[in-house]
Amino acid sequence: MSDGFSLSDALTTNNNPNPSAPPPQGWPSWGNQPPAPGGFPAYAGPPGAYPGAPGGYPGAPGAYPGVPGAYPGAPGPYPGGPAGPGPYPGAPGTFPGAQSGPGPYPAPGQPPTGPRFGPPPPPGGQAPPLKVPFEMPLQAGLVPRMLITITGTVNPNPNRFSLDFKRGNDVAFHFNPRFKEDNRKVIVCNSMFQNTWGKEDRTAPRFPFEAGKPFKLQILCEVDHFKVAVNDAHLMQYNFREKRLNEITKLCIAGDITLTSVMPTMI
Ligand code: GAL
Repeated sequence: MSDGFSLSDALTTNNNPNPSAPPPQGWPSWGNQPPAPGGFPAYAGPPGAYPGAPGGYPGAPGAYPGVPGAYPGAPGPYPGGPAGPGPYPGAPGTFPGAQSGPGPYPAPGQPPTGPRFGPPPPPGGQAPPLKVPFEMPLQAGLVPRMLITITGTVNPNPNRFSLDFKRGNDVAFHFNPRFKEDNRKVIVCNSMFQNTWGKEDRTAPRFPFEAGKPFKLQILCEVDHFKVAVNDAHLMQYNFREKRLNEITKLCIAGDITLTSVMPTMI
């Protein structure tokens, strides 16, 4: 392998003798990649909502408090998107309806005061949290190179939280940190088909979440597995049990966390 980093290094694990180990260059760089040409598949956001509004407040200090090293730089506006009048003219961000940058995702059902809709937090201030349980439609389903970045803070005295990538009622990927299972901390991953859970995967080599602490959780959809990173360090991968990626059209987040942002991007 050459010294330099290439995208194919990040996306290829077939030759890796230890696929759960991080690639030598690591993949914190995921979240810092520019969007792929064409950008993120369009999200049919609230019709007519907030034209010209920024997708978020990248670069606004304090937007993602406590998450070290996250989100350097600001994305440009969505190519071809209107620069028209909006609540925050001139602010960089994504054009709602076609997310291309790392701006927070305008999920329906969230209060208009959420970080995607409300005024930008004051410098040093904090965006209001998203409602948990949280549901985000993935309009075109999953696709390889789609990266979902979730930031939040674990509640004090947590029991569990979970992410569920769903195909209808089935759960293609359940990622479930448990803080007190028999007084231990364990990450349980699984899939559920026709209301029946499969074999649990409990092989995550560490438990990177802590009560009361902020986290950044990233899920990268690859060709045949998900990769999971926490706080810019690779944690584990989960091979697809459901392969119809385009039918995995919902992400649900629940449990004992405060949710700050959920941002899909393409890398
Ligand atoms: C069950 C639990 C579910 C899910 C599942 C994963 O025991 O009730 O919420 O976590 O395990 O295997």
